Amino acid sequence: MNIAVVGATGAVGETIVQVLRERKIPAERLGLFASHARNGVLETSSEALEPFDTVFFAGSDEASSQFVPPILERGGVVIDNSSTYRMRADVPLVVPEINAASILPDHRLFPVGNCTAIILCMALAPVRDTVGLKLVNVATYQAVSGAGRGPLEEFDAGKGAFIRNVVPLIGEFGDDGYSGEETKVRDETRKILDLPSLPLYATTVRVPVRTAHSEAVFFETECEAPVEALAQALERAPGVVLHREGVVTPREVEGTDDVHVARLRYAGDDKRHFQMWVVGDQLRKGAATNAVQILELLIARGPR
Ligand SMILES: NC(=O)c1ccc[n+]([C@@H]2O[C@H](COP(=O)([O-])OP(=O)(O)OC[C@H]3O[C@@H](n4cnc5c(N)ncnc54)[C@H](OP(=O)(O)O)[C@@H]3O)[C@@H](O)[C@H]2O)c1
Repeated sequence: MNIAVVGATGAVGETIVQVLRERKIPAERLGLFASHARNGVLETSSEALEPFDTVFFAGSDEASSQFVPPILERGGVVIDNSSTYRMRADVPLVVPEINAASILPDHRLFPVGNCTAIILCMALAPVRDTVGLKLVNVATYQAVSGAGRGPLEEFDAGKGAFIRNVVPLIGEFGDDGYSGEETKVRDETRKILDLPSLPLYATTVRVPVRTAHSEAVFFETECEAPVEALAQALERAPGVVLHREGVVTPREVEGTDDVHVARLRYAGDDKRHFQMWVVGDQLRKGAATNAVQILELLIARGPR
């Protein structure tokens, strides 16, 4: 397998290279690409990508629009962290712990979902599977590295828009008053959980945290349930860690792959109303680790 990473100098691309090494993915060749060449990284072009049968994208939407189609045409596999292809009806949006079965033999394009949506779905899928999910309301506390390497470097230097502030706009507002990020969280959560008309209301907010997104989630279930039943379902879920006591914060989970849930409780007297606090490293499970897990599934399924 010859693997390339487009966007290898970025926040997600660097993490993909690290996770590929950590998980010992057998690559005969690993090519690193960015918008321009420097220090062992090559400039991205369709010709330069030709020797690679498996290409991770962690660049811009423009890079994915331009360079993904030729790779698919020549029979390659693409795992793409941009939002370009996520909502296409003919491609799966795979979170391996939740919907690995959505991969069909002829699929070769695998978008990786929005980081906030992946982290949310990891905590909601066990609820859906236990008592059904009727409605979700989420407010997020998203790390600066979610905006990429440039804003993170500014933040580390004590500069930029995210110092000493909380900004309730990620992306641009649509006509309905929701931001681009909020629309992605709603649409992609519905697709990953296979609940196409799930009512989901998000307020997504950038906060002065380096890495790992936090989410305050209210959800309504289809049936009444004891908190304990949901706690046990979360404890059984692969990739989820439940904290029965205390809290969990982004600084504690930075650099790790699990999604953490704390403060699971009833919201008021209705035994179908719950709240929880969810935290996950968005560069890892929200992006790079999920991407490499998809490749592991493809390796396990064998040659096409
Ligand atoms: N950051 C996150 O937490 C996160 C989570 C999930 C998904 N994503 C998505 O992942 C992608 C990468 O995000 P990021 O945060 O890692 O961004 P980033 O830190 O700004 O890095 C962007 C990378 O893409 C490269 N690039 C930009 N335009 C390119 C082009 N036209 N051709 C080839 N390479 C190009 C850059 O190369 P140069 O260094 O040469 O400019 C850099 O390596 C985005 O689509 C983003 O929405 C990000």
